[in-house]
Parts: sequence; structure tokens; C-alpha cells
Amino acid sequence: MPQLIAGNWKMFGRLAEVAPYAAALRAGAPAHVELLVCPPFTLLDRFAAALAGGPARLGGQDCHPAPEGPHTGDIAAPMLAEAGARYVILGHSERRANHGETNAIVHAKAQAAIAAGLIPIVCVGETEDEREAGEAEAVVRGQLMHSLPPGFAGVVAYEPVWAIGTGRTPTEADVTAMHAAIRAALRAQLGASGAGLRILYGGSVKPGNAASLLALPEVGGALVGGASLKAEDFLAIARAAPRG
Ligand code: PGA
Repeated sequence: MPQLIAGNWKMFGRLAEVAPYAAALRAGAPAHVELLVCPPFTLLDRFAAALAGGPARLGGQDCHPAPEGPHTGDIAAPMLAEAGARYVILGHSERRANHGETNAIVHAKAQAAIAAGLIPIVCVGETEDEREAGEAEAVVRGQLMHSLPPGFAGVVAYEPVWAIGTGRTPTEADVTAMHAAIRAALRAQLGASGAGLRILYGGSVKPGNAASLLALPEVGGALVGGASLKAEDFLAIARAAPRG
């Protein structure tokens, strides 16, 4: 399976940026990776048109557990699918921290995404205090246990909270150990299907560190925040992914 290089635009991006960004992806996307752009909801429709037939897929950054309803300010999974999304990021640490999203909520959202035909990207990761206390793997195992629904057929993104937007990354040994722990947990939880799911690394992935991070065992791609906003940086990260 090709590596998945996913861009999380967070709450950045205006309509005028869509056409040049999409054109740059069309011109420069390497063939050996799967590219994904997750812009704010307001840009999905414009992006869907700009990326149609091209090398990159589209995703949302969140969805509500219900297919519709009186939930002011929320977006339902079928709405994302209709807007052209194939993926949806769920349980990002910014949503867990800023919106009180629990594992149970992420679990319900993942079920809603799957029901709508979307591929969920479920984010997990420890805080700095948890890592210093030696609890990082236990925290992540707990998040997986309670966030992933039975038969989960999506993507997991390991994003240490302290590495997001900080320019700091874990050591290669720590990424390798955590991805091995996540793989073991997925196998235990999901059986044989857990062996094939992609596990992304996220947190301060940049053109300069992408090649070494993406070459580590059990790293199946990257979830890129800040560096995904510039097409040339995002493409440089994608080109750094190992082939095959
Ligand atoms: P960053 O964000 O690349 O800016 O650290 C990653 C993320 O939050 O998905």
C-alpha cells in the first residue's frame, strides 16, 4: 500500500488559495504516494472541483456522530462525503483538548464516518507529562482501545501532543517503539485486519525531517499540519516518502 501523506490545514486557508495549490499538486505530485488534503469545510467544494481527476484526495477535519440533526455548527459525515471527501480526521488532539472530545465520542464519530463511506483517520498521542511519566504507550493503547470501533478499517495517526506545531519531534527510536506498540495493539484488537492498516506519524513533519521519519518501520505516511499549507513543502514531504 502506498504511503499516505495527509495535509491538515486546520483553521487556515482562503478561497483564493485553492486554485494555485491544486494546480501545484497536479503538476508536482509524486506517483508513489497517496496525497490527501484536509482543508476547512468552507473550502471542500472548491477543492473538490479543483482536484477532480487529479492526484490528490480530499478529507474533512471532523464530523458529528449523527447523520443529521439539530447540532449548530457541526458537520455530518454524509455532508462531507457529498462535498467530495474520502477521508475524515477524527480525535485530533486539538479537538480532544479544545472541544472535550473523549475516546467514546471519537468512537461514535468513527462509526458515523464509516457508515457514510468515509475512511476515518483516528489520531492518538500522549502529552509531554505522560511521556515523562513513562506512560506514553499505555495512554496510546487506551486511546486505541476506546476510540476504534470493532472492525475498524481506517487509518491511525500517532501524533505526540508536544510535537504538534512545536518544531520538536520524538527520537527515531521513540517513533519506532510507539509504531510497533500501535501495530501490536491493532493486531490484538482487530485481528488479521489490524496488520494492514496504515499508521501515520504526525507532529512537526517538515521537508527536512520527512525522509528519516517516513523510512522508520511501521510508519505508513505522515499527517502534516503547518508544512502542508505551502504546496512546495507538502510536495517535498511527499517526495521524501520511500518507494514501495
Ligand atoms: P504540525 O501539525 O505538522 O503543524 O505539527 C500536525 C497536526 O496537528 O496534524
